[in-house]
Amino acid sequence: MSKEDRSRWDERYRVGDWLDIDEPATILTLAEAWLQPPGLALDAACGSGRNALHLARRGYTVIAVDISWEGLQRLARRARAEDLPIHIVHGDLERFQLKPDCFDLVLNTRFLLRRLFDVYRRALKPGGLLLFETLTVDEIDVLGGDIRREFALERGELKAAFSDFEILLYEEGVLEEPEGERGMARLIGKRRASRPSRRSHQRL
Ligand SMILES: C[S@@+](CC[C@H](N)C(=O)[O-])C[C@H]1O[C@@H](n2cnc3c(N)ncnc32)[C@H](O)[C@@H]1O
Repeated sequence: MSKEDRSRWDERYRVGDWLDIDEPATILTLAEAWLQPPGLALDAACGSGRNALHLARRGYTVIAVDISWEGLQRLARRARAEDLPIHIVHGDLERFQLKPDCFDLVLNTRFLLRRLFDVYRRALKPGGLLLFETLTVDEIDVLGGDIRREFALERGELKAAFSDFEILLYEEGVLEEPEGERGMARLIGKRRASRPSRRSHQRL
């Protein structure tokens, strides 16, 4: 990410131009039934942390990563005030690597960096939950939205990217969001348990 992009996000959080609210993303409300038992969660591109706060209040320990120092400071203040287990990481996800099999939940909302599809897949424990929702090309082609095309999912792209997951919920199209209609896709999926190794297979 360029320095200009980073400053742009800092400025947006400073002036309150981006959802600096406590209401979590729609996908978190929809995922409620699958959120037990809590464990370790990653909130990638967490912004000012509306979702990280929600997960921590639900009992998760959250690693919250973002490039915007300003957004993270807002989150840190709120987490401290409520004594919530949120660990803040100021970093660029374009260069991020994560340990394999360590997260019970990975959350990605309103953010798209395609190299992370594989990073998330590996970082989730078998049985771990992926919650992914972001804008699609419908935002541009149907609603005339002004976003860069590279930051919009193609139609069907999210489902195809995680076709090896057990899909618990998938929605795509012009969806109703708190701020109005948006061209979006959202997926709740479980990483499947690894196949048994050849050795354990032979023992059966
Ligand atoms: C639209 S906001 C979404 C914030 C949050 N996920 C939410 O739904 O409220 C996008 C966020 O991505 C962050 N971001 C953009 N590029 C990034 C990168 N390369 N690494 C980490 N964070 C990045 C921005 O700083 C911003 O906070």
